[in-house]
Amino acid sequence: MIDLRSDTVTRPTPAMRAAMAQAPVGDMQYGDDPTLNALEERVAALLGKEASLWLPSGTMANQVALRVLTRPGDDVLIASEAHSAWHETGGSAANAGVQCTEIPGEGLFTAADVRRMAKPQDSPVLPLPPTTLVQIENTHNRHGGRVFPPAQVEAICATARELRLATYLDGARLWNACAVTGQSHATACAPFDLVMVAFSKGLGAPAGSILAGPRDLISRAIRQRRMLGGAMRQVGMFAAACDHALTHHLARLPEDHANARRIAQRLAACPGVKIALDRVETNIVVFELESARVDAPGLVQGARARGVLINALGPTKLRLVTHLDVSGADCDRAAAVLVEILDGKV
Ligand SMILES: Cc1ncc(COP(=O)(O)O)c(C=O)c1O
Repeated sequence: MIDLRSDTVTRPTPAMRAAMAQAPVGDMQYGDDPTLNALEERVAALLGKEASLWLPSGTMANQVALRVLTRPGDDVLIASEAHSAWHETGGSAANAGVQCTEIPGEGLFTAADVRRMAKPQDSPVLPLPPTTLVQIENTHNRHGGRVFPPAQVEAICATARELRLATYLDGARLWNACAVTGQSHATACAPFDLVMVAFSKGLGAPAGSILAGPRDLISRAIRQRRMLGGAMRQVGMFAAACDHALTHHLARLPEDHANARRIAQRLAACPGVKIALDRVETNIVVFELESARVDAPGLVQGARARGVLINALGPTKLRLVTHLDVSGADCDRAAAVLVEILDGKV
């Protein structure tokens, strides 16, 4: 199978497994895990933040961040179809008690949108839920791995500060964004109060995300992590995988981007396929079927029968993601399979 359902499907490489097996470990909750401590220090420095905190998943990192930066009843401005609003099974409402207001558009938004859509925090008469947080997803998953232009991010965060809103970056794929913009990770994270990066996506580790920010916010995040059941013990084995991924898999991300682009170009030539090639910037390809021979579930099924796995995001919308475990040749083969089905040749 050529598995393009997500970049989370990668398996640890033999070298990563060896690093995990050899890692010195200790009890995380006593602060005794040397491999974890070293990783948290390394990542805080890389992201230019005072402190950082490992969590088992990106979802938990997003939920912890919401609980640290908001209060129940608050309103959060968030990109359309953001992960926190669409893929955390209602966790943002259940865990943090917030409502997410999606900013219409295609994953990106502007400082003017924030100014227009932020509800006042101290409205004297109207019973408005106060907006207290702006969240950016970079790259944006459901909108095809789009990269937020750095100047736009800076303007949004400056406006947020002016309006007394906190700022949070869901940077599960910040690594991919920086590979495109050429920005350092620290510069990309500088405008935000709290940031999250994930190791289990394009970097290929089996688990782990890190929240980074000022020490006081990270201290509060430690309590929230425990409340949500994320305080684990000998996590050094996972930390070793994350550290290995950072050292060995970061520099190769442009390969995934090139592979995604090659598939997208083949799809764009198919009649009935709608795809904005200029938006295929990283490792995610989202496309729509318009008057094609099959619908999205039909294409998923047909591709599976021929050894290619992709995901339907809706009746006519599909997503495929390139990663460490698929080569250029695999991607060419996958593109050929999809094109044959769309051309009605099978
Ligand atoms: C943008 C984004 N944020 C957060 C997450 C959640 O990460 P996890 O699957 O580790 O919970 C994902 C997962 O794909 C994601 O794409």
